[in-house]
Amino acid sequence: MLVKSASFVISNTDVAKCPNSKLPEYAFIGRSNVGKSSLINALCNKKKLAKTSSRPGKTQLINHFLINKNWHLVDLPGFGYARVSKSQKKIFQKFITTYFEKRTQLVTAFLLIDIRHEPQPIDLNFMQWLGENSIPFSIVFTKADKLKPNAVERNVALYSEKLLETWEILPPKFITSSTSKYGVDQVLSYIGSLNENLKYTT
Ligand code: GTP
Ligand code: MG
Repeated sequence: MLVKSASFVISNTDVAKCPNSKLPEYAFIGRSNVGKSSLINALCNKKKLAKTSSRPGKTQLINHFLINKNWHLVDLPGFGYARVSKSQKKIFQKFITTYFEKRTQLVTAFLLIDIRHEPQPIDLNFMQWLGENSIPFSIVFTKADKLKPNAVERNVALYSEKLLETWEILPPKFITSSTSKYGVDQVLSYIGSLNENLKYTT
């Protein structure tokens, strides 16, 4: 799928104020600094569409971007960011979970995982929560450029092994780098195919 147009729509902390349309949307979630905003920019081929930073905690709102005038990408704040106060963390956490619980336009979530790290409880718990709430998700490994190809393969295999301890069927997975654009086309094709399927089911 080609991204012909991509524009910022609105930022929110209130899910009720997110765009009131029926357009399908795809949300990017994961730990702070994992590369959510960078991946959105890579998908849209626009360097400054979503704000990125080398310091964790950059994205603090629910951000909607309109793509090709007929679907939304959603950039969310990271979870597990240690440097914000406990009360602020709770507020973030609350509106992230409310977003997932209330947003019926959400087709699937993309849970981003830094390919360099071993499976972390915070990500595994979040997957558990998505599963319990019947929210479809895919796993997107990020920053693949930071490892040699065989280390990428090894870490992905280790991750799958870990997931198979609790999951019977594994979610779709993508290996990406926003820097080299590796895997970006696969994510776009997947979104394109889900958008196509929706045409026949709605
Ligand atoms: P929060 O908004 O704080 O939750 O972070 P985020 O998940 O949106 O991360 P962001 O896209 O802001 O990226 C964090 C840092 O990682 C930035 O310094 C990016 O340049 C870097 N980064 C993101 N993706 C990649 C990648 O694929 N490769 C490399 N080498 N660096 C990346
Ligand atoms: Mg961000």
